[in-house]
Amino acid sequence: MEYTKAWLNYRQVEQIRFPFDTIYVQNDCVVAETAAKELCLAVKELLKIKLQCIANIAEMQTALQKDNRNALFLLHDNAAYAQTKVPGGYTISLQEAGLIICGSDANGLLYGVFELIRLIQTESPLLSKVCHGKEALVKSPSNPLRMLNHWDNMDGSIERGYSGNSFFFAKDEMIVNERTREYARLLASVGINATVINNVNVKQAATWLITERYFNGLKQMAAIFAEYGVKLFLSLNFAAPMELGGLNLCDPLDDKVRAFWKKKMQEVYDAIPDFGGFLVKADSEGRPGPFTYGRNHADGANMLAEAVAPYGGLIIWRCFVYNCTQDWRDYKTDRARAGYDNFMPLDGKFLDNVILQIKNGPMDFQVREAVSPLFSGLRQTNQMLEVQAAQEYTGQQKHLCYLVPMWKEVLQFKTYAGGSDGAAADTVADIVSGRFYGQKHCGMAAVANTGNDENWTGHDMAAANFYGFGRLAYDTELTSEEIASEWIRCTYGSDTEVHKIMLQLLMESWPIYESYTSPLGIGWMVNPNHHYGPNVDGYEYDRWGTYHRSDCKGMGVDRTMKGTGYTMQYNEPNASMYESMETCPEELLLFFHHVPYTWKLKTGKTLIQHIYDSHFEGAMKAQQMLEQFRALKERLEPEVYARIYERFKLQSDHSKEWRDRINTYYYRISGIPDEKGRTIY
Ligand code: GCU
Repeated sequence: MEYTKAWLNYRQVEQIRFPFDTIYVQNDCVVAETAAKELCLAVKELLKIKLQCIANIAEMQTALQKDNRNALFLLHDNAAYAQTKVPGGYTISLQEAGLIICGSDANGLLYGVFELIRLIQTESPLLSKVCHGKEALVKSPSNPLRMLNHWDNMDGSIERGYSGNSFFFAKDEMIVNERTREYARLLASVGINATVINNVNVKQAATWLITERYFNGLKQMAAIFAEYGVKLFLSLNFAAPMELGGLNLCDPLDDKVRAFWKKKMQEVYDAIPDFGGFLVKADSEGRPGPFTYGRNHADGANMLAEAVAPYGGLIIWRCFVYNCTQDWRDYKTDRARAGYDNFMPLDGKFLDNVILQIKNGPMDFQVREAVSPLFSGLRQTNQMLEVQAAQEYTGQQKHLCYLVPMWKEVLQFKTYAGGSDGAAADTVADIVSGRFYGQKHCGMAAVANTGNDENWTGHDMAAANFYGFGRLAYDTELTSEEIASEWIRCTYGSDTEVHKIMLQLLMESWPIYESYTSPLGIGWMVNPNHHYGPNVDGYEYDRWGTYHRSDCKGMGVDRTMKGTGYTMQYNEPNASMYESMETCPEELLLFFHHVPYTWKLKTGKTLIQHIYDSHFEGAMKAQQMLEQFRALKERLEPEVYARIYERFKLQSDHSKEWRDRINTYYYRISGIPDEKGRTIY
């Protein structure tokens, strides 16, 4: 299948003065070679300049001593030119010898090269400052691990995939081809350094990924990824000792089970020496795990961690563990509490090469949720933030929903882990980066939104979430606008009108989506199973623990001390802030409280009027998005315009369905009419 170059679509740029004609590369490893190749390709396509590439270290050393301003040097691990030592960091500076891109390691060099390419692509004013020695550019990644989690199945389907089928698997076979390399390029270009290629729900053939059957394919794939500094990870099946090893149990404390894993890991690492490690979903939504044997998550994770430790492997253990056979009549059991309840007692019990991967939010990737309190609690455990770029609950890549602003809010959330006076730098970003507790293994993961669609992400503009995740994980200080703006320029070139309109569309998209879907942090209200489209009671009487508790007087879940007690999982002053209806941030009001429809919000509107207004306005804004986008008809390539237009049309129509379903439901249940007398059915 054909595919686009996404943001690596190199269009010619006219206005750039680029004084370099030769590059010297310290090509002592495959990543450095890639860096040189990528730079030559980009400069050729963007600037129509053919660089001469000298890959001889002795010649490079001589050239470094000369006064030769039109040379470009690609170096790594060189203390003389690197102003950062952080792995994956880089320094770009003009010296007597020429422009030097020096990575703190080879990955850093590659990221530095992609930064230079991006400066050219976006015609950034910074480029001339850097190229003329007015400024050195020094960057270090905020997070050590910057990872994608693909939920791809071996039959080629993708769980929660909205962009076609898998480009890793089909019919229980692996796919390794040119697209594999193109994918790795996209990752490296935004600083992603690890990827899990198969679904966390590991079943059937996927269980066999850790066997001879797939070693060849995995080895080839890992080798391509390695060219781009990306580590290959897999999800594993905790019950593999039974399904593959012929044992009758998978108890993590059983000697035979432990021996099985030790041997298995040896086989895996013999076949794929630079393999990263494993992601594990255990005792969650029906997946096997240590609970069956009365063991805990630390027993399970540590057993695997011991088995991969000799090879430097990591075990990433998911905290998405909750009771999924709840009774809707039960008002005490609270899914939001579950992560904290399950994992806080184990703080400090995990081995050093285990990372707990914490999903945000604590329920499940809703359009608005409180930040998981586990980030505020765990002190002696490696932690990683998991977000979902795949738009399972945020419009399934039919609706536009730029998620970087949501992820920024999560990262900026103050945990008060360093004390209630607020003096410490203890945001979620500080914690998952390892800055706060000095942890080495930590970072960010996103459930990927890609598939084998021509444009990679179904909605062309959903690629901003793919791009944005990588850029944000690399540099959590970047603003959402900066990231969106870069993505637009890289993908669509320098047309200022395209830039203006697309930026506006992206930046408004999350609030708009939120306003016509479920109100004030309550979440869900979607059709069961596939999760697309409105269905207020879709999950209300179900077993999944996702209720809105609407009755004729009010709605929302009481998570205060009188209710489920969830508010108490936060540190002060967050706990008190959420506990009181007066101080709870309004966008989360229904997440934390059961609120009467007549409750007055800060705007002076009642809750019910807010629901009506936001739904009428949200749906209207969705129509306006379509109109705004129409202005780009002559400015985008026809097929690109047509693809995006079709999505905005769907969104505009579908937002009316959301508006009317929600408004009608709440009008019927509350009996309170809209003050403005608009049509409610
Ligand atoms: C959500 C999603 C599932 C997925 C699960 C997970 O519940 O709907 O498809 O398996 O998250 O994160 O494991």
